[in-house]
Amino acid sequence: MVDPEIIPHLLKYMGSKREILSLINDAIKELRVDSTCLCDLFSGTAIVTAAFLDQFNVISNDIQTYSGVFANLYASNMEENLKQGFVVEIKTKAKEFVDEWHGFFPEYKFSYENINSYDGLLEIENKQQKLINADFGKGFSLFAKNYSGTYWSYEQCVWIDSIRAVAEEYKGTAGYYAILCALIFAMSYTSQSTGHFAQYRDVTRSNVHDILLYRKRNLYSLFEKKLEEVIHLRIPRNNHEITVKTLDYLDCLRIIPENTIVYADPPYSAVHYSRFYHVIETLVRYDHPHLEYKARYRDDRYQSPFDKRKEVADAFRLLFNAIDERRSHLVLSYSDNGLLKYDELLEMGNQMLGNHYDISLKGKNHVHSKMGRADENRLYVNELLVSFRRK
Ligand SMILES: C[S@@+](CC[C@H](N)C(=O)[O-])C[C@H]1O[C@@H](n2cnc3c(N)ncnc32)[C@H](O)[C@@H]1O
Repeated sequence: MVDPEIIPHLLKYMGSKREILSLINDAIKELRVDSTCLCDLFSGTAIVTAAFLDQFNVISNDIQTYSGVFANLYASNMEENLKQGFVVEIKTKAKEFVDEWHGFFPEYKFSYENINSYDGLLEIENKQQKLINADFGKGFSLFAKNYSGTYWSYEQCVWIDSIRAVAEEYKGTAGYYAILCALIFAMSYTSQSTGHFAQYRDVTRSNVHDILLYRKRNLYSLFEKKLEEVIHLRIPRNNHEITVKTLDYLDCLRIIPENTIVYADPPYSAVHYSRFYHVIETLVRYDHPHLEYKARYRDDRYQSPFDKRKEVADAFRLLFNAIDERRSHLVLSYSDNGLLKYDELLEMGNQMLGNHYDISLKGKNHVHSKMGRADENRLYVNELLVSFRRK
């Protein structure tokens, strides 16, 4: 397995498996099968994809587009592809876009320098939130228009749009993924929301100081530091291929080779990833979606059957069936806190695959990165791995 230390952290992601990679490695080894292909079926941050690239050709799949950006970063050979001076080049270009923007709109200036009261903060935030009604009439204004004074300040949004504009020039190259991943990291650590993007925090008398800390963070510095890190990334791959898909899990399972090891880490709670990470999806797609609700969600966000009490059992049934049809092996992550009761899941697995598969179990008490910051927001779950080895 690739040393997890060399795989950069890019996004605070709910249910990331970074902490249990060695457990997954043990489960895969214990299958003792001669497969050359691993499918990371619900890849999220693509950390599992990256960790097993030294051992397998990996198919990395997730319904969310941003996951493919992470996987493509790990697929790229940065040092060979990026020329010297890349970081300086990006800075120059991003700054040109930012300066040009301020030249277009000198009337918009929102400084947090002298703000230290509840009323002062509320006023500056409200003014920025109203920019959603502004008609900027310029390209690369999506974040300034729609998210100023919400997750980020206006100035941070101008930098997000400008860096995103620069990324476009590098599309089709390793540089594109490096820029986007570093930007996602910077967005994650400057957002005033609590570790995800399901909602931004309203200003209250007790959180003025905390919100100001995020508002005053320099997005570009965080971006640049991460960019330096990712362009020196080199995952030992032993010539293995990586294939990146943005498909529903059943579509992906139709096209995998037989005898693939499928690592499946589906959502286990009623929380939709498309709601928690909607702005990251929008950053990558930059497709000007119609937004709704106070949190400004995309109105086309995907609703997973694994997040719905009435659909989750069928979703697993279809998963087991597709694995069987592809004569493949399965390592399944789930929590003892999941929407589908663990006993039910095991019983279903036994019933559907028991004849053709050897089934075994592993577990670990694991602190789920549910929402990031405060300890009380963490969820203590038993992370369980069930292996299905085709006989
Ligand atoms: C628990 S997370 C995976 C975390 C990942 N293993 C990691 O370590 O970062 C579950 C993922 O399933 C994806 N997902 C949900 N429904 C899906 C579906 N029907 N097809 C493919 N991916 C889906 C979500 O977008 C989310 O990224």
